[in-house]
Amino acid sequence: MTSTARLQHRIDELAAIARVDDPVREIYGTSVSRLGLTADEQRARDAVAAWCAPHGARLRLDEAANFYARFPGTDPDAAVVLVGSHLDSVPMGGRFDGALGVCMAVEAVVSLVEAGARFARPVEVVGWADEEGARFGVGLFGSSAAFRRLPAHAAALTDKSGVSIADALRALNLSGDPTRAARDPKAIRAYLEPHIEQGPRLERAGLALGVVSDIVGIYHARVTIEGRADHAGATVMEARLDALVAATYAIQALERIAGSVPDAVGTVGEISVRPGAKNVVPGECTFSLDIRAPKQESIDRVKDELFDEMRQLMRGPDGRARSRGWKVENLHQVPVTPLDAGIREILVRSAREVGVEPPILISGAGHDAQNPSLAGIPTGMIFVRSTGGSHTPTELASTADAALGAQALELAIRELAGA
Ligand code: HGY
Ligand code: MN
Ligand code: MN
Repeated sequence: MTSTARLQHRIDELAAIARVDDPVREIYGTSVSRLGLTADEQRARDAVAAWCAPHGARLRLDEAANFYARFPGTDPDAAVVLVGSHLDSVPMGGRFDGALGVCMAVEAVVSLVEAGARFARPVEVVGWADEEGARFGVGLFGSSAAFRRLPAHAAALTDKSGVSIADALRALNLSGDPTRAARDPKAIRAYLEPHIEQGPRLERAGLALGVVSDIVGIYHARVTIEGRADHAGATVMEARLDALVAATYAIQALERIAGSVPDAVGTVGEISVRPGAKNVVPGECTFSLDIRAPKQESIDRVKDELFDEMRQLMRGPDGRARSRGWKVENLHQVPVTPLDAGIREILVRSAREVGVEPPILISGAGHDAQNPSLAGIPTGMIFVRSTGGSHTPTELASTADAALGAQALELAIRELAGA
C-alpha cells in the first residue's frame, strides 16, 4: 500500500541534496541546484539505492551514470518494465521536477513488493542522469546514452570551467564513454514516467492526475555573435561593433517570431559576454536557443525566420552593422514524440481506478520518455498536478496527489509486469 508519509520523507530527503538557501533574493529562498553528472547527483542516486536495496533490488550504475534498481521477475530473461525519471535539477530549481517521479516509482514498486506481488517479468526503477543538460548543454543526456541518441562527440563537450562530460563521468569512477550505456530496446517491455505537469492545466481543471499523449519537439543551440572589443570610453558609438547589442536584436526577434507561431515557444535562458568587463565594448556574445513546438514544421519555421532576420539584424535599426558575423552550434534536437496509445490506455484506466478521469495532455516540457519512445519502446507518462510554475523553487506538488499517482502507477506496473 502506498505510504504518503514515506513518500513525503523521500521527497524531503532528495530536496535536501544540493539545497540552496538564498536569503538575499526572496524568490530563491530555498531551491535545489543538483546539476547532472555531479557528486550531488550521485548522492541522490545513493539515497534511492538505499530505499531499494532492502527490498531485494539489484543495483547498477551504467556508463552514463544512470541508476537502475532491478526487482526480480519469475522469468529473469523477460523484457523488463522500466519506471522512473531523472534525479538532476536545473540551477536553483524546484524540489519536484524529476525527483518526484523517481520517488513515486520507488513507492509504487516497493509497495507492490511489500504486498507480496510476484512479477512475471523484472521491474527496474531508473534514475536518469543529467536530464536537464544544465552543465554541458545536452538535455536528456542519460536516456539519450541508454538509447543511442547522444549527439556525436557528446563526451567531449565541456562545462564553463572546461570539465568535459568524459571527465565528469571518470570522476564518478566510470570509463568516460557514455555510449557504453546503450541498452537493447527489445529487452524493455515498457517505460513509464511519472512527472509533475509543470504547467497550469491540471490545476485549472481541479484534477490530480493527467496522462500524456505527445511530447513537444525541442531544438537546442548556442549562438555566438562576433563584434569587436573596444574601449568603452574612447570608442564613439558609431564606430562600435557591440556584440551584446547585436544579440539583443536577435533575442527580441526570437520573442516576436515565436509569438507569431501559435504553438511554438522560444527562449534564451543563457547569455555570456567576452571579455565581460564594464569598461570594454563586448567583443563576443554567446547565448542559448531553446525552440519547441508540438509540430516540427513550427520549430523549423521559428528557426528559419530567426536566422533569416539575423542576417539583416546584425545591422541595427539605423542600418549600421553591429557585428562582424555569427555562428550557430546545434547542441541537440529531439523530434516531436507521440507516446504509445496502448500504454496511454493502461494509464488512463489506472487513473480512473483511483478515482481520477485524467485529461490527455501534450507535454510542453521535454522528458527522458522521448528517448525510449523514439527507440520503439512502448512508453507512457502520468502527470501529477503542480502549481507555482517549474524550474523555479516555487514549483509545488502535493504529496496526496503524488500518492494517488503512485497508486495508479502501481496498477499499471502490476498489469505490465504480470504481477
Ligand atoms: O527542458 C525541459 O523541458 C526539461 O525540463 N528538461
Ligand atoms: Mn526540468
Ligand atoms: Mn523533468
